[in-house]
This record gives sequence, structure tokens and C-alpha cells, in this order.
Amino acid sequence: MEQLSGTLYDHPVWYDLVFGSDWKAEFDFLSACFREFARGKVKSLFEPACGTGRLLYRFAKAGYKVAGLDLNPFAVDFCNHRLQKHQFPETVFVGDMANFTLSKPVDAAFNTINSFRHLQTERQARGHLRSMAAAVRPGGLYLLGLHLTPTEGDDICDEESWSSRRGNLAATSHLKTFGLDLDDRIERCRMEVNVYTPTKSVRIIDELVFRTYTADQMRLLLKSQKQWEVAATFDFSYNVRLPVEVDAETQDVVYVLRRTAEPVKRA
Ligand SMILES: C[S@@+](CC[C@H](N)C(=O)[O-])C[C@H]1O[C@@H](n2cnc3c(N)ncnc32)[C@H](O)[C@@H]1O
Repeated sequence: MEQLSGTLYDHPVWYDLVFGSDWKAEFDFLSACFREFARGKVKSLFEPACGTGRLLYRFAKAGYKVAGLDLNPFAVDFCNHRLQKHQFPETVFVGDMANFTLSKPVDAAFNTINSFRHLQTERQARGHLRSMAAAVRPGGLYLLGLHLTPTEGDDICDEESWSSRRGNLAATSHLKTFGLDLDDRIERCRMEVNVYTPTKSVRIIDELVFRTYTADQMRLLLKSQKQWEVAATFDFSYNVRLPVEVDAETQDVVYVLRRTAEPVKRA
């Protein structure tokens, strides 16, 4: 089996196969949150760390005006190419979600599968929430999904495996935590992806580094951001009828953040 170099994010075709097939539950949940929690209509959307835009282009197809950014130029090219292929403008750009500006605020934004935890420091996390506050209009939403580190309970999940298929492409993926330093707040995960096409098989072995958050650390971070209020919290079952309470045992959460009227002060 051929082993590819670089991270999975450098291989958008394979990234999109591994994560792109699993979009419908998130799409329906996000759409329901826009209706339920935003003040005013949601017509424009922004996704920081959008990757291949597996959700963005589906929202474009559903009639929303979409835009996004990502640090990885391969992902941005892939995303813009797909938008253009479906006759939408190429509105995704290379940028750092810790510090960016949009020319016009949007109605809502989303960031669902731990990308926020790629920001390694408190300064970057705060910079991100400040940039997002300038990017979303008052009454608009930011839906932020991430795994928390539980401080109670013993049913802690530290690995997962799944398989995906699209046409004659198939992939198996395995993600496992191999290093957890709660003092320095760093989680290191190994990800192995095996892709099978009719003519070849390729393997990508990646190391993903995430900042850790306990429920309390996240609560304090959000409390420090006067531009955001927590309108509701859910888990990764993505059921808008089943809000959850975040506590010391919570492992996965989507915060529905609503933009307050508080103006953004630049750092
Ligand atoms: C797990 S992927 C998620 C992609 C997409 N949001 C999705 O749901 O499929 C994480 C993405 O975060 C991007 N990323 C990491 N750090 C970033 C940063 N500082 N600014 C912008 N994007 C970043 C990576 O390039 C990658 O595309």
C-alpha cells in the first residue's frame, strides 16, 4: 500500500471521502438551529476552518449565501472548485481563524467538528471568538461543536473507527488519542486512513494536535466574551429537540452562541 506524505488536510479528495459522507444530520441540525435561535432570518453563512466545505456547498445548494476560510490552501482550492462547479461564487479564502475580518457581517456561522481545538493558545481562542463576533451580526449565531475533556465519570471515549464509501471509493479510518497532557492542555491523536480505489490503495498516517477544554475552561472562556451569549447546548446526536446540560461528564457539545449587541473591541 502506498503511504502518502503530509496531513489528511493536504489531501482534500480523501478528506472529503472520510468526513464528507456524514453531513445530513449536521446539516439538518444547523438549519433547525438557524430557525430556532437566531433573531431575524438567516440567509448568509460563514464557516471558519471550512476544510473542503462539505457542509458549505450543501448550504449553497439550499439557497444560502456562503463563505469560508481555511489555513490549508489545498482545502481552499478544492472547496472553491466545487462551489464553482455548482455555479456558486468562489467565496472561500486562505486565512487564520484566530485573526481575520470579513467585509460584511453574516447572519450565522458554524464550526462543528473540533476545528476550534486546533487553536493552541488562549490568546488564539479569544482572538477567534473576537474575529467571529465582528463577522456575525447582532442576533446572529455561531454554532461551535467540540469534544470536552470530562473531569468526572469513567466512560471516556479515546478512540473511534469508521468507514466511508462514495461510488467506487472506500475508506477506513481510525482515530486514537496517544498523548493527553491536561496541564499544558494538549491532546495528541494518531489518525490512520486507508483508501481503496479500483486501481490502488493508499494510506495516510496523521498526527492531530488539539487544545483540551474541560466544561469549566470552556465556560470561563465564553463568559469572558461579552459579544456572545449561550442560547442553548446540544450534543453530537444533533437533535434540536434534545438540548443537553453541560457538566463535568460531558464529552461532546455544540454551543449555540448568539451575538449580543456588545461592540467588538479590537485587541
Ligand atoms: C477537522 S477539519 C474540519 C473541516 C470542516 N470544518 C469540516 O467540518 O469538514 C479542520 C480544519 O481546520 C483547519 N485549520 C486548522 N487550524 C486553522 C486555523 N488556525 N485557521 C483556519 N483553519 C484552520 C484545517 O486546515 C482543517 O481544514
